[in-house]
Amino acid sequence: MHNNEKINGSGKRTSFTHATAQAQAAGSIEAIPATVKDFRCPVCSKDFSGYPELKQHYTEDHPDAVIPVTVSLNINGKDCEVLIEPHWTLQRTLQFRLGLTGSKLMCDRGVCGSCTVIMDGRSVLSCSILAVECEGKNIQTIEGIAANPKWKPLVDAYCKWDAMQCGYCTPGFLVSAKSILDKNPHPTDEEIKEALAGNICICGTYPRHSTAIMEAASIMAKEGE
Ligand code: FES
Ligand code: FES
Repeated sequence: MHNNEKINGSGKRTSFTHATAQAQAAGSIEAIPATVKDFRCPVCSKDFSGYPELKQHYTEDHPDAVIPVTVSLNINGKDCEVLIEPHWTLQRTLQFRLGLTGSKLMCDRGVCGSCTVIMDGRSVLSCSILAVECEGKNIQTIEGIAANPKWKPLVDAYCKWDAMQCGYCTPGFLVSAKSILDKNPHPTDEEIKEALAGNICICGTYPRHSTAIMEAASIMAKEGE
């Protein structure tokens, strides 16, 4: 079986290609709404017509609760305004408000790296940062990387070298890999291992990441000549 091919739950052979990933990711980005405000009270699930009405309801019925707030984000180049509870993490906001399911929640403790995103050029753990702390920030998720043809060699190399098994940790690794290549287009094996130290793979795919990233780096360098 080619290493891009997998057997799905129905026993059918399916193949994963960059084109598939790119199309799915582009669709998810396209679907990000400019505003997500449903004005539903998260305490009692009553719907309201606007923020003033919701605020009034909190004052009268839930005086001790903290009222939802609006946060403005730029996700993969798209501006959006989202109404969330103030304690929501960025990961939760991406998944449950914006439909971006690529940033995976594994440990929810800031130790596994599966929820990694890039915020204003720096890798951050989206499970460990509140969405309200991201006000006005530019955030790149795995969907933004998969949708960008520039990163095709990286996705292809991950497929070629089978740098994934269950795949749950893979988005976090790919975001970290992209972050490495942004800063250092020719990383060594040692530099890659050091930069990926915050990403954990329960399936033990560790040796394959360096191979895939170094191959992607060399293809991208040739493409840039
Ligand atoms: S889920 Fe965020 S670091 Fe593990
Ligand atoms: S491929 Fe399964 S956790 Fe990494």
